[in-house]
Amino acid sequence: MHVHACAVAATAAFVGTAALPSPSSDARAGESGRATVVAHRGASAYAPENTLASIDKAAKLGFTWVENDVQRTRDGRLVVIHDDSLARTTNVEQVFPGRAPWKVKDFTAAEIARLDAGSWYSPAYAGARVPTLEQYMRRVEHNHEKLLLEIKNPELYPGIEQETVKLLANEGWLDRQHLGRLIVQSFSADSVRTVHALKPALTTAFLGKPPVTRLNEYARFTDLINPSYGSISADYVSAVHTHTGPHGGRLGVFAWTVDDAVTAWKVAGYRVDGIITNKPDVVRAALHAD
Ligand code: G3P
Ligand code: CA
Repeated sequence: MHVHACAVAATAAFVGTAALPSPSSDARAGESGRATVVAHRGASAYAPENTLASIDKAAKLGFTWVENDVQRTRDGRLVVIHDDSLARTTNVEQVFPGRAPWKVKDFTAAEIARLDAGSWYSPAYAGARVPTLEQYMRRVEHNHEKLLLEIKNPELYPGIEQETVKLLANEGWLDRQHLGRLIVQSFSADSVRTVHALKPALTTAFLGKPPVTRLNEYARFTDLINPSYGSISADYVSAVHTHTGPHGGRLGVFAWTVDDAVTAWKVAGYRVDGIITNKPDVVRAALHAD
């Protein structure tokens, strides 16, 4: 199944945008013509989500793209965790019993560093930590991975866009080579717009499904529209593809979160550019089943 007959041409056009630093060429389908597979929260079906173990697992399975969620501690450190509370994915209720509802924003980085973020998933991962974004970026680099970074709940963390961009710069992720391996996304259009204004060379993605009539507005600040797979159709994807993003390439679509072969096949048939999944091996097998 060739998901994108014109992917190579589209990618070439995208990368060829003159003086711009090279935004993520994988924001379009890969040269194979198949959708890019992104390991959601790392290979989170097989290791505790958003931990270093989960991105190690993705690398071990042969996947380069990983997704994460970034939030902020009470003392202003960026950390990688999905929920706004620490309760589901750590042992915070045991370590800090009097601190309900255990919001990430109410704990210092040192307190969070004491928590076990692996045992809830399996005893085999006891001792895994909630990574700081610095630790996480270094492991992504070490593993030669590429990152779809989500700014999660930005309304809770005023200024998180600036802080994220600053950290990425400090970690060396805003040079030309790294920009080709990085996408920043959010459910908040304001947040995506802010990231684009702060660092126009960054590839950005909006999480959601704007109406077709408003896609032209989104195309001013986002390179990708990343909707829930159940909310889209082939017509919607092709409507997105008619737009040109801020870097001169056509607007792309990464759909989430697809964990079974039948759905992967169906969504690939919509000609999406990427599929975000907890089970990247399952999706890869489906995409190659042609
Ligand atoms: O990357 C898409 C997906 O992460 C959006 O939903 O809730 O898993 O962050 P969520
Ligand atoms: Ca996410």
